[in-house]
Formats: sequence, C-alpha cells, structure tokens
Amino acid sequence: MGNMINKKEGFININGLNLFYREFFQDSFKSTMLCLHGGPGMSHDYLMPLSDLANYGIKVILYDQFGCGKSDAPGDKSKFTIDYAVEEVEGVRKKLCPEDKIFLMGSSYGGALALAYALKYQKNLRGLVISGGLASTSLAVKEMNRLIENLPAWAGSAIKKYGESGEYSNLEYIKASAEFFSRYFIRVDPVPQEVVTSLEYAEKRDTYRIMNGPNEFTITGTIKGWDITEKLHEIKIPTLITVGEYDEVTEVVAEEIHKRVDGSILKVLPNCSHLSMWDNRDGYNNILMKFIDSID
Ligand code: ALA
Repeated sequence: MGNMINKKEGFININGLNLFYREFFQDSFKSTMLCLHGGPGMSHDYLMPLSDLANYGIKVILYDQFGCGKSDAPGDKSKFTIDYAVEEVEGVRKKLCPEDKIFLMGSSYGGALALAYALKYQKNLRGLVISGGLASTSLAVKEMNRLIENLPAWAGSAIKKYGESGEYSNLEYIKASAEFFSRYFIRVDPVPQEVVTSLEYAEKRDTYRIMNGPNEFTITGTIKGWDITEKLHEIKIPTLITVGEYDEVTEVVAEEIHKRVDGSILKVLPNCSHLSMWDNRDGYNNILMKFIDSID
C-alpha cells in the first residue's frame, strides 16, 4: 500500500470503433485484470470499485464496450451480439495488455461475455472472475421472476400486470421496479454517482434496448435465448464466481456455472445484491485478491 497509482485514459480503435478505456496501475505490477461491464448497455463507470485492486499490484483496465458510455456504436445493428463483443474483448486485450495472459473479470452480462470469451480464447487467460454473471438468459429471467414473486404483493402484482401490458412508464410499475432495484440490484443508499452514470448511459443510448430489452426482467433483445450452459465444461482455467446473497442474477444461476466449470470457486457475499462491489467494496475486492494470489 502507499504506492503511487498511475491513471491513464483515452480511446483505442478496435474493429473500426473508438472505445473509451481507463487504466489504474503501479509502476510495477504483477498481473493485469481486464473488466467487462454489464447491461448490456451500461458503462465502465459502475465498475470503479475494482480500481482499488491497483493498490495490491494489479493493473486494472476498464472500458466502455461498443455502443456504451463514451464508445462508438456500430452502424450495422446486426453487430450487437455476444459474438461481436467477444472479438472486441480480444482486440482490447491485444492492444492494452502487455502480458501473454491476463485475468478477465465480468459483471452480470459482462460475466456472460467473459464466459463466451473463455470458450474461444481461454489460452489467453490466467483466470476468470464472474460476478453476478450468467450462462443462460432464460434461467436468469426465470430466477428474476421468482424474486418478483417474493416481493411485497403490491410490487409483485404491479410488475406482472404492467410488464405484461408493456406499460413500463406506468407510475405503479416504476415504483415496484424501484422496490426490486433496492433489494436485488444495489443496496447502497443513495446510489453512488458512478452507478447512476452507468444507468443513465443505458437509458440514453440504444444498446440496452437493442441487446437486453425494456428492463431487467424483460429480455427481448439480441441476447434473448442465449445459452452456453452445456459448453461450460470446456472452460479449464481457474475461475472465481461471486454472487450476492440478494443478487437479481441469483445464486441458482451462479451454481449452474459453478457445477460445470471444473475446480471453480463460488463465493456468496452476505447482505449483498447484484452490485456486490458497491454493497461490500472491501469484502468483494478481498475475495478477488485472494483468488488472484492463489494463482502462480
Ligand atoms: N441486465 C443485467 C446486467 O447485465 C443482468 O447487468
């Protein structure tokens, strides 16, 4: 501790798009972790707690994926897919990571992307960290619906009623979604500015609607039906899976990944929700550090 943390930011051109990135590192660092945000359609901002890992000798790289945050979007809508995103991650790794092998971290949809990346490019990875991630969008949605059933009756029935009729701007629906959000998305109150910024980007750019859908529980976008569960056994690298006790992408979803990735470690963070890195910043980062330290 106490060492100077260098900060660097800028744009890199990957597959013809300018992508915004930020790096945090000491003059000498022992490994690099590239972090993938979720949404799909949020931005790197909400992953800022991960930058604390630079204090422990990890170079931390965050970036805004295509069509997110400050990054360009492809003109061609057919590119808004996980396959395209995997090649983008590979482009970012090649451009920004000096070592042969890195750690890849993904939160939520970013976890799905990290798993998809590993299936194609695990030779480039020392390890994987999947936080509130998923391998199947339909299982994630099924589980979110179970959580909705467990909300106070007024909230559960408003989400069901107005969700089915597509009245997403109905005030009852908005109030009920806020109830879900404060239990299962982030428990810190007030919501930190970095998280607000990421949510605002999701709202004002098109990527969330194109890839995800109108809201968390209604996946109608390009990732609808995406499922790599039966391929997960092909992942043979050290893998840490974290999930909040009250995560909207539930422990059941995390278990399905854990069961299939040989030797993977599953850590449930007590009293945390989807954004565990905010609900328990030090506890979360300590789990990641321990995992990284356990790998030569
Ligand atoms: N839509 C959620 C995320 O990627 C699951 O953050």
